[in-house]
Amino acid sequence: MTEFPKIFAHRGAPTLAPENTIASFAKASEIGARWCECDVGVMADGTLLIIHDDTVDRTTNSSGSWDSWGYGELRRLDAGAWFSPTYRFERIPELADVVSFANSTQTGFNFELKPRAAGRRRDTLIENVEVALRSFVNKDKILISSFDHDLLRAVREAMPEVSLAWLCTPAEVRAGSWREASQIECTAIHPCGQDLTEADVHEMLDAGFDVNVWTVNTLEDARKAAQWGVTGIFTDRVQDFPAEALARA
Ligand code: G3P
Ligand code: MG
Repeated sequence: MTEFPKIFAHRGAPTLAPENTIASFAKASEIGARWCECDVGVMADGTLLIIHDDTVDRTTNSSGSWDSWGYGELRRLDAGAWFSPTYRFERIPELADVVSFANSTQTGFNFELKPRAAGRRRDTLIENVEVALRSFVNKDKILISSFDHDLLRAVREAMPEVSLAWLCTPAEVRAGSWREASQIECTAIHPCGQDLTEADVHEMLDAGFDVNVWTVNTLEDARKAAQWGVTGIFTDRVQDFPAEALARA
């Protein structure tokens, strides 16, 4: 029996392979991770890409905001060489690539939808996510989260059956606004670990939510969170956790 709760490989294994790429998810899976987290954005032509930042500066060989770009530009980017020559030619994946990876490895995924401007782009994001996830075989292994709670509300309308998680900042934990998560039947709260207290965790658990905390990068902090009773931990360092912890599905 492991002392740790469920472990989510945050952006894959980003200290060993370029974050949010198939290589990163594959590395996490190779180490034993059963769940990964990734960030999902929507480009001007509706392409769903897996990237954390609003620009490609940090994680590719190029620069600029990807917001007005589409599939053609996406294919031209190298998302691995910046990390190491081993990963040159690695691409920024589309959501469909991640779904294929998840199906072939039976990996669960937390898809974090990045906030987008209101209006048509938001509708496109939700529609295209819904279509892409139809191919995800094990629906129990999908968790959709966002800091944009209006977006989450719209996802709930479009996808009545999907599991949702309410992401919150330290300020939102303080304000207690996470309680609104019950209105759209979220199964989990995803609080930032910074300033989080044991009492916060107990309140969330007592309200009936899973509590998956991000981003926990030392075993010492992970043990503390586990002792508080959190149900899950997001980490950039899956390689530090024992195999039996990673094996928790
Ligand atoms: O989903 C948990 C965590 O990824 C949220 O923050 O900025 O790392 O996407 P961020
Ligand atoms: Mg994220």
